[in-house]
Amino acid sequence: MALENIRLEVMKTIESKVDGFIDQYLIPVDDIWQPTDLLPNLQGEEGLENVKQIREEAKELGYDFWVVLVADMVTEEALPTYESWLMDVEGVDQQRRADGEQNPWSKWVRHWTGEENRHGDALNKYLYLSGRVNMREIEKTTQHLINDGFDIGTGRDPYKNFVYTSFQELATNISHKRVGQLAKKKGNKMLGKMCNIIAGDEMRHYMAYREFVKTIFEHDPSEMMLAFHDMMKKKIVMPAQFLRESGEGIAQAFENFSNAAQRLGVYTTYDYIEILKKLNAYWEIDKMRALTDEAEKARDYLMKLPDRMTRIADRIAIPQDQYTFKWVENNGII
Ligand SMILES: [Fe+2]
Ligand SMILES: [Fe+2]
Repeated sequence: MALENIRLEVMKTIESKVDGFIDQYLIPVDDIWQPTDLLPNLQGEEGLENVKQIREEAKELGYDFWVVLVADMVTEEALPTYESWLMDVEGVDQQRRADGEQNPWSKWVRHWTGEENRHGDALNKYLYLSGRVNMREIEKTTQHLINDGFDIGTGRDPYKNFVYTSFQELATNISHKRVGQLAKKKGNKMLGKMCNIIAGDEMRHYMAYREFVKTIFEHDPSEMMLAFHDMMKKKIVMPAQFLRESGEGIAQAFENFSNAAQRLGVYTTYDYIEILKKLNAYWEIDKMRALTDEAEKARDYLMKLPDRMTRIADRIAIPQDQYTFKWVENNGII
């Protein structure tokens, strides 16, 4: 049987578990938080006072902080790219079944999207109310990013895509959590809480995607190992890899944003390595036996990779020069 067909078989076999994954890792609409729970209630008497408080507190936050918060928000706002990508993965069929029910995998993608959609929404409203950033420039960046799409090197392969999402959900958990901690330290309680609660969603999503991979390992260990190896060898790129400002070329803003995140300690190369170690441990890569020769080599590569990457990271200095973004200029806070 061709490899793709085996992947389809495995996706089909796991399908019966997907409703359980939705129940276990996602939260029903009526029980989950909504962005307005974390923002001033503008229908209420105190709404405008709370907005003033946000604006006052926001003055304490520095340049790199705003750059990172903006880029995190824009990354979340490019959700249409991620949903359409996942809907196209082998085994995810968005047609309803003959009985009118959703295909379990596409139901997962939709429900995951529904949760994710609240992240950009919440951060966008906060940034707008803060008065510290140029919203029009940010909105143009978001539109560009959706226009430009991304290329994460997974193709339509479910195995590679679930490695990617496992990795990314934990990366976003870490970065939102750190931004929240920085905000809290500067007395921005509302923003601190918002980032922290978003980080909580990312953690549940991470736990779900790593479970998908673990389940695939039970069915097709050698191919799953090779897919993991392939993704780590080409490196996990960020979903906002093509980030740009208005009037600038594709991807030009990404590196400057990434440097700001490293300077703040919000997301560093060491976090990347930590994520890899966590995935290796959760999937028990070291204990994996009965692999093909090629998959065994892939396993050995993955086991050695964290140390190898640490040695390289130790030698790389983080650029200290701040780049001026259109998103945050004209605010006198440089
Ligand atoms: Fe998110
Ligand atoms: Fe996420």
